[in-house]
Amino acid sequence: MQFERDFFIGAATAAHQVEGNNIHSDYWAQEHMAHTDFLEPSGDADDHYNRYEEDIRLMAGAGLNAYRFSIEWARIEPEEGKFEEKELEHYRDVIRACRENGLEPIVTLLHFTSPKWLISKGGWESEETPGYFARYVRYVIEGVGKELNYVCTINEANMGVQVAAIAKRYMRQMQAKMQSGKTDGTVQMGLNLEKMMANQQAAEKERMEIFGVAKTECFTSPRTPHGDELVAEAHKAARAAIREIAPHIQVGLTLSLHDIQALPGGEENAAKEWEEEFTHYLPAIEGDDFLGVQNYTRTRMDASGSLPVPEGAELTRMDYEFYPEALGHVIRKVARDFKGTLLVTENGIATDDDSRRVAFIEAALEGVGGCIAEGIPVKGYMYWSLMDNFEWQKGYSMRFGLIAVDRKSQKRIPKPSLGVLGNYAKISRR
Ligand code: BGC
Repeated sequence: MQFERDFFIGAATAAHQVEGNNIHSDYWAQEHMAHTDFLEPSGDADDHYNRYEEDIRLMAGAGLNAYRFSIEWARIEPEEGKFEEKELEHYRDVIRACRENGLEPIVTLLHFTSPKWLISKGGWESEETPGYFARYVRYVIEGVGKELNYVCTINEANMGVQVAAIAKRYMRQMQAKMQSGKTDGTVQMGLNLEKMMANQQAAEKERMEIFGVAKTECFTSPRTPHGDELVAEAHKAARAAIREIAPHIQVGLTLSLHDIQALPGGEENAAKEWEEEFTHYLPAIEGDDFLGVQNYTRTRMDASGSLPVPEGAELTRMDYEFYPEALGHVIRKVARDFKGTLLVTENGIATDDDSRRVAFIEAALEGVGGCIAEGIPVKGYMYWSLMDNFEWQKGYSMRFGLIAVDRKSQKRIPKPSLGVLGNYAKISRR
């Protein structure tokens, strides 16, 4: 599979997952709660904040020509209205290192984490948040906009809606279990409802102490339809600011997209799911320069809803079905409605067996190549992730990386897949 010379082949990271010590963020605060949902705190992560040059050189050495990373709002504006010039300087250095090493920097302005203060003010359900976001974006673009060509405003703008759907499904399953189980607080599955309730109350009290609100509306908290509109508004406000300050920049957002497949009888459910995941964002992204497509697997649906992975299917460490064909399918589906450029901003696999990562990348890129051959304007492919990193609530247990990291010594150990991915850029048509 050969791509054009200007096709981006790169890798992606997010600030909180790799930099370390993102102490002013909402996630950091949650990771350190006594009643935390996180398996472990992010701590020093991969110390990418200090070692970004080494990491960028590794990418360039392997042949990659693009690096997608995020600028951390909580570092730039650790207190409301207090902007840190030296943090912007840090990201200017990262951008410079990319350019010196022949990598196109593709910057994301919000990748799940927000400053803690924003959550105390109502977070992603507050009418004020789009304005705060646009103010931060303005500061960043005024500072480093000249040096950028591609900016993603918000990573996976639809994540809160997806989390809300999962939470609803989970509640329904719990209710069904309770109805069929005992009534003394210990239902099937070894659930202890009394303890869960007590924990929940204690967590609420703790959140109140830490954030000043009992219900924290972080970016990835279950989103209400109104909150979903605010996310779209934040994107549009950021886009307007970017276009005013640096009109040369290509702007877009990214979406988490499953390859939703309808089994006989599941057509209506599949159409509804796709509407929720993708189509209803069309008005918000109309006029964007590109759309960031992020895909990891497929979801099959029948008349009852989404189905478990097929029996005997190969699973990734995330328990997703190994199904790299999903990417090509999703790109084709998106291209029916969105006519702008598509950029694969994330696609990857958590596995300990790097040969499966290689197989995944090869199959996924085969799919991308097929889409391009059909005339779909796909501009690049960013593998998730450059290195093994902090997979949010699951801590460091997932291994998506092209590079392994010994977190005690912070030594980088490139995996064969890094070279395989880089080769696609090396052999691209000159
Ligand atoms: C997110 C990443 C995450 C990855 C793997 C995406 O939803 O943007 O932050 O690590 O999936 O789960």
